[in-house]
Amino acid sequence: MKNIAIFASGTGSNAAAIMDRFIEYDDIFVSLAATNKPDAGVLDEAHERGVPTRVFTKKELHDEDYMHDLLLGIDVVVLAGFLLKIPPFLVEAFQGRMINIHPSLLPKYGGKGMYGMRVHEAVLENNEKESGITIHYVSENYDEGDILRQEKVSISQRDTARTIALKVQKLEHEHYPKIVEKLVRSLPENYD
Ligand code: GRF
Repeated sequence: MKNIAIFASGTGSNAAAIMDRFIEYDDIFVSLAATNKPDAGVLDEAHERGVPTRVFTKKELHDEDYMHDLLLGIDVVVLAGFLLKIPPFLVEAFQGRMINIHPSLLPKYGGKGMYGMRVHEAVLENNEKESGITIHYVSENYDEGDILRQEKVSISQRDTARTIALKVQKLEHEHYPKIVEKLVRSLPENYD
């Protein structure tokens, strides 16, 4: 049996897609949906599906004892639009077991401040012919961990930042839950 925690700060559409994938599994559970934003959409998505939630402050995120208690029994931490930087002790504790998704083909259009529509606007401004998603391990720097998977979409002359965002989001919902499952299934029974 394996347990997943999702961290999300926004609407939580990726979190919802991941929760939906595992809803009827009896060996993998989304056991926690956590956020730093008391009004984050992810909380409603989790409540609707009966997934336990937690709102924590930035200070609590950096508190080793607090996070140790919160993540007791969690095998994999999935970031899905989580906007705070993960403290080094957590990166270390979940080495190879914490992943993130970014709405561009990293290393392009990543790093601090590159999130949401800003990414797609920059892609459009630079006349890119393609964009996509990157699923990667979490490291101490934004968007820099080893890449697990990239998927691409092509961009046409008629695309806007909004249409690129929609295409990319479709890819996210299709692939992120599958990659999460793949990672969870690749873990040994005991890895302490
Ligand atoms: C996604 O585009 C993801 O790539 C990025 O944050 C966004 C989260 O969207 N890291 P949602 O809250 O899952 O809808």
